[in-house]
Amino acid sequence: MVRLHVLTPNDWPLWRDARLAALTEAPHAFKSRVGDWHRGGEERWRARLETPGAYNVLASLDERTVGMASGLPGDGGVCELRSVWVGPEARGLGVSDQLIAAVETWARRSGATALKLAVIPGNSPAVSLYARHGFVLAEERGDLLPDGVTREHVMVKAFR
Ligand SMILES: CC(C)(COP(=O)(O)OP(=O)(O)OC[C@H]1O[C@@H](n2cnc3c(N)ncnc32)[C@H](O)[C@@H]1OP(=O)(O)O)[C@@H](O)C(=O)NCCC(=O)NCCS
Repeated sequence: MVRLHVLTPNDWPLWRDARLAALTEAPHAFKSRVGDWHRGGEERWRARLETPGAYNVLASLDERTVGMASGLPGDGGVCELRSVWVGPEARGLGVSDQLIAAVETWARRSGATALKLAVIPGNSPAVSLYARHGFVLAEERGDLLPDGVTREHVMVKAFR
């Protein structure tokens, strides 16, 4: 059974291990690089979990961490869905559905008007997942990627 675990700053080693696993396993999916985070110690990981108003959740299967996601408060009541990852051994089981639903519930409860995310073009499993959850391509231009040409795609789900 998949279990979700909402993290506190003291859980930073769990978050670190999951995030480093994600950045190592799926570098194509994230703007951050694993090398950026290897330089960070406890203070940096804690700071990430201490972001005011943030929501960080891990998914576990048989006591093993298999996925993660974050919600961050944003401007104008638009929260951000970040750091979504499910390990290869747990893909196709609906783990990401549970993670996204948890972040959406958190965003709605915190009074958000919408939830948005950024995805690297070509990441079709992720785009397909977000579309299934009601996210649509936004007009907003995403951040420029290191190639200096490609931009992330922004997707948004408005709450009515
Ligand atoms: C994207 C991701 C979170 C989906 O997780 P998941 O729990 O497997 O999600 P789902 O089971 O709903 O599958 C989502 C899509 O992935 C595809 N998929 C399913 N099982 C898969 C597998 N074993 N391997 C690769 N892709 C798979 C499916 O095509 C599905 O698309 P569909 O909705 O059209 O059927 C996961 O593949 C992942 O972590 N990828 C690497 C990191 C990443 O891309 N994060 C998102 C950053 S924006």
